[in-house]
This record gives sequence, C-alpha cells and structure tokens, in this order.
Amino acid sequence: MRLAVIADIHSNLEALDRVLARIDQEGVEAILNLGDLVGYNASPNECLELLRGRDVRSLAGNHDLALFDPERAQHFNIIAYQALMWCREQVHPEFLKYLQNLPLLQEQPGTFLACHGTPASPDTYISYHFQGKRVLKHLLGLPNLRVCFFGHTHRRALWYRDIRGKVALRPISSGKMRLSPEEHYLINPGSVGQPRDGNPEAAYAIFDDEEFSIEFKSAPYDIGGAQRRILAAGLPPFLAERLAQGA
Ligand SMILES: [Fe+2]
Repeated sequence: MRLAVIADIHSNLEALDRVLARIDQEGVEAILNLGDLVGYNASPNECLELLRGRDVRSLAGNHDLALFDPERAQHFNIIAYQALMWCREQVHPEFLKYLQNLPLLQEQPGTFLACHGTPASPDTYISYHFQGKRVLKHLLGLPNLRVCFFGHTHRRALWYRDIRGKVALRPISSGKMRLSPEEHYLINPGSVGQPRDGNPEAAYAIFDDEEFSIEFKSAPYDIGGAQRRILAAGLPPFLAERLAQGA
C-alpha cells in the first residue's frame, strides 16, 4: 500500500491545498493525517471543510484537543494560546463533532502505528535521543509493528532502532529511502502548515509498505497568501513571519 502521511496542518489552507494537489498525483491508496488540524494560521473552517470532504484518516493533535478543553491551552506559549482562542471563536459548529470524534491513535495491524506526539501522549515530543529510544522500545513490544508515524515537532525525522538495539537519527536524503525489515522506525513527515526545520515548503511523506520505503517531500505554496490571511485576521504577526522562515 502506498500511503501519504501529513501532519500539523494548523489551519494553513494554501499549504494544505497544494499538498493535497501533489498527493493526488502520487497514486496513493490512503492519506494519514497525524493531527493539529487547527491553531496558529487563519483558515480553520476552510481546512476542515477540505479534510472532511475527502477520505483523510485524521488523528487529534494537542491543538485540536485544546479547542474543547481550554485548560490544555494554559500550557501553550502566549502566541499559540492567542491563536487557539481566536480559532475557538471561528470554528463553525458543524465541524465541532468532526473534531471531537478524531481518535488519538491509529493502527494498521502488521504495518504501522500512528500518533500525534507519542503513542502515550499527544503532548509529548520526540526530539531527543532518550525520547526516540523510549518510544522505539514501546514499539518493539507490539507484535508485527515496525513503524510508528508521529508529528508535533514540525520537523522531519527518521529515527531507527537496529537489531543490536542502537537508536539514532538517519539523515534524510532526497528521493526514496529504503527501510530495513530488521529495524524499527519512528517517522515524522514534517509539517504541512508551519514547518520548523528551515525549509518553508509544505512537508509531507509517501510510505510504501510493500517495498518498505519512505520518501520525504515538500511543496512550494503561496506563503504570501497565508501570511495576508493571518494579518487580516488580527493574529500575531510573528505567525506570518515564521512561515517564510520555516522556523
Ligand atoms: Fe503542531
């Protein structure tokens, strides 16, 4: 099965539109979305309309959950908090049920597990070695699962655990990267709507479970359009600036 993996759309319509158009040319059988549909950017309703109208398998991220539980938003930085409060007022009631029904995890038996932050929590990051090691150890205990997809950091990542138990980050190269059937992997496709790894293009990945490969991709999009919407909505200007920087 060829699977498109996306994450952290964060209400960026221009980026989502572009990524979905690219994915439509990839010949995938499914689209997996690792959560954080809302927050930060200015087009929550347009993005939700697009996602709900297509066969996208979405998870709940910490921003999606905070929409219904403002207590969660207390832990956000001030800019993320302001953007979420703005979003709470904007989201049309017709989308609330859709958002409320998003699962925290998805599992394709024998193929992959998918989460927002980690399988244990949508709020926890996998950024450092000890964090990757802990989640790979958890994955090892699950029968027939070699891959866990995650988002939340907004940075592309390919963690592996080899047969001797070594855990490390594999450098991401362009083109298709073959995976080993003897290793376990944590894969972050990067962020569609607010990339933070220095590449401002909208990120996504294509996973093929038959040839066991992953390809990290990104698409240029109308960043200026997304920035104009942010400023017109009265959201913090920093949210517009960071889109151009990919940071
Ligand atoms: Fe996010």
